[in-house]
Amino acid sequence: MKCLQFQRSDISKGHLILVNPTHPYTEQIMREQLTLLAPRSLRILLERQAAKMLSEAIAFLGGAQDIVPVSGYRTLKEQEAIYHNSMLEHGEAFTRSYVAIPGCSEHQTGLAVDLAKSQEDLDAIRPEFPYEGIWGRFRRYAARYGFIERYPAGKEKITRIAHEPWHFRYVGYPHSALMEESGLTLEEYHACLKNYLYEGRHYYTSCHNRNFEIFYVTLSAEEDRIIE
Ligand code: DAL
Ligand code: ZN
Repeated sequence: MKCLQFQRSDISKGHLILVNPTHPYTEQIMREQLTLLAPRSLRILLERQAAKMLSEAIAFLGGAQDIVPVSGYRTLKEQEAIYHNSMLEHGEAFTRSYVAIPGCSEHQTGLAVDLAKSQEDLDAIRPEFPYEGIWGRFRRYAARYGFIERYPAGKEKITRIAHEPWHFRYVGYPHSALMEESGLTLEEYHACLKNYLYEGRHYYTSCHNRNFEIFYVTLSAEEDRIIE
């Protein structure tokens, strides 16, 4: 294994970051880490690796005409505006179900994307993204490209967000595949990773002829960590 060096600031970085009401996003992704998604006219930004993998998945499925990204990276100010407008338009119960509290939206990381079925009137907050047809095929391939459906039905108590069939989160492969196989949400997967501390038993898996070793590294408040 190559030498890995970790700093405290790394905790809030990386594709596997957990952002939810109890884990606010305290960083600010740099503009150069974001890129415009196609079609460029929509001006949707996504983190570079997430954008590359999403574009590859859509191209593989030949879905460019049918799968439309409607929301990607959001600034804190944009999330505040969405939250505020939704409160005024739809009220508190709806807003708390479907819009993350500003500061706690994974859209702020650039790793989340809302996808819609291409149609005339797109719902900006709850776009339609079916489970059948090319959209269903996208779902079946999403994990292979590093994406998960982040807010599944039945897990609302854990994610604290209602079922959102349109919201996909880039977590990277093989984590995406492991979460899909096990049916774990990102919250549950994070909890599970803590069973595989660097000092203890690691998790070994092979997916698509590639071998992976997964472990959890803790950091103290004072020190950086180097792992050889
Ligand atoms: N719709 C998701 C939960 C967000 O606002 O981040
Ligand atoms: Zn979303």
